[in-house]
Amino acid sequence: MQNKIKTVQQHILDEERMHPGATGDFTALLTTLTLAAKIISREVNKAGLVKILGETGEVNVHGEAVQKLDEFAQQTVCRAMGHNGHLCVMASEEAQNIIPIPDGSTRGKYVLMFDPLDGSSNIDVNACIGTIFSIHHKITKDHEDGSLEDCLQKGSDQIGAGYFIYGSSTMMVYTTGNGVHGFTLDPSLGEFLLSHENIRTPARGKIYSINEGNMHFWDAGTRRYIEHLKEDRKDRGHPYSLRYIGSLVADFHRNLLKGGIFLYPGPKGKLRLLYEASPLAMIVEQAGGAASTGEQRILDIQPTSLHERVPLIIGSREDVEQYNQFYKEAQKSAAD
Ligand code: AHG
Ligand code: MN
Ligand code: MN
Repeated sequence: MQNKIKTVQQHILDEERMHPGATGDFTALLTTLTLAAKIISREVNKAGLVKILGETGEVNVHGEAVQKLDEFAQQTVCRAMGHNGHLCVMASEEAQNIIPIPDGSTRGKYVLMFDPLDGSSNIDVNACIGTIFSIHHKITKDHEDGSLEDCLQKGSDQIGAGYFIYGSSTMMVYTTGNGVHGFTLDPSLGEFLLSHENIRTPARGKIYSINEGNMHFWDAGTRRYIEHLKEDRKDRGHPYSLRYIGSLVADFHRNLLKGGIFLYPGPKGKLRLLYEASPLAMIVEQAGGAASTGEQRILDIQPTSLHERVPLIIGSREDVEQYNQFYKEAQKSAAD
C-alpha cells in the first residue's frame, strides 16, 4: 500500500487530538521546531559555500571548540522558539545556564532542551549531523517563568522527544509516547512528509557502534562484551560489523532502522543526559528497544545538573540486555 501523503503537522495534530482537552499548543510548538530545522538544513546543505564552516574560536561549557554551524543552529532554535509563546524555559548544549524566554514574550507550559547540532566534529567533512530535542511539561507553580527545576526532570517524564538528521535527505523522527514516526523533508514543498510510520527496531541487530580508540579506558565488562561480538560463534554465525560515524544521531538512526547497539561507555561517559541520552532513550523504548548506563535504565535517572554526562548503551533490546549482563557480571567478579 502506498504511503499516505501526510505532513508532520497533520500527524502531530492527529496525535494531539487523542489527548482529551488538548489545546493545540504542543502542535504549534513542534511545528515551530520544524521551521528551525528547515532553516538549519538549508544552511547545512550549503555550508561549504557561505563561509559557515570552521570554528568560531570560542570554547563551550564542555571545553569543546564551537563550530560556526553550532552557533548558527543554536541561534536559529532560540530565535524561532523563544517567541512562540509555548515555552517557559529552554536549555541547550551550547549555553552554560538555562535560557529564559525573552522579555515581552508569552510564557507557556512546556520546557525545551536541545542539542542544536550533534556531530560537530563532522560538520566540515560533510558527514551526517543532526539536532536532538526533549520536551517536558513545566512542573514549578510559583511563577510563569520556568526554572532549572523544570529542566532537571527524569527522562521518563518527557512528553515528547525527537531528532532531525541532516544527511542524504533531511528527516525528522519523533515520539509523543504513541510510537515513533519518521518524516522526510521534501525541499521543493518545504514540508516534512510521513515516510516511516510506527518505526520498530529489531530485537537484535548485527551492528555495534563504539569508538574503539577508547578501548584502553573501557571497563572489563565492556571489553568482554565487545570481544564476544567479534567471535565467530556457531550459535550466532558471523561476528557483528562495526559501524561508527561519530555523530550520535547518525549512528543511532541507522541502528534504529537496521538493528544494533551504540555504546559510549563509562566510567563517566561523554554524552549528555538531558538533551542526548534521554530523548533518544524515549525514542528507542517507544520503538521496542532499550537504553541503559549498564547499571540502570536511562529514563529512570534523576538529573542533578544541566550538562551531566552518562554512559549510554542504546539500541536493540536483546543486545542492550546482553551488554548489561556482561557489565554486571564483571562488576560482581571485581567486587568478589
Ligand atoms: P556534539 O557534536 O553535539 O558535541 O556531539 C558529539 C558526540 C556525539 O555526536 C558522538 O556520538 C560523540 O560525540 C563522538 O565522540 P568521539 O569523537 O569521542 O567518539
Ligand atoms: Mn551531541
Ligand atoms: Mn552539539
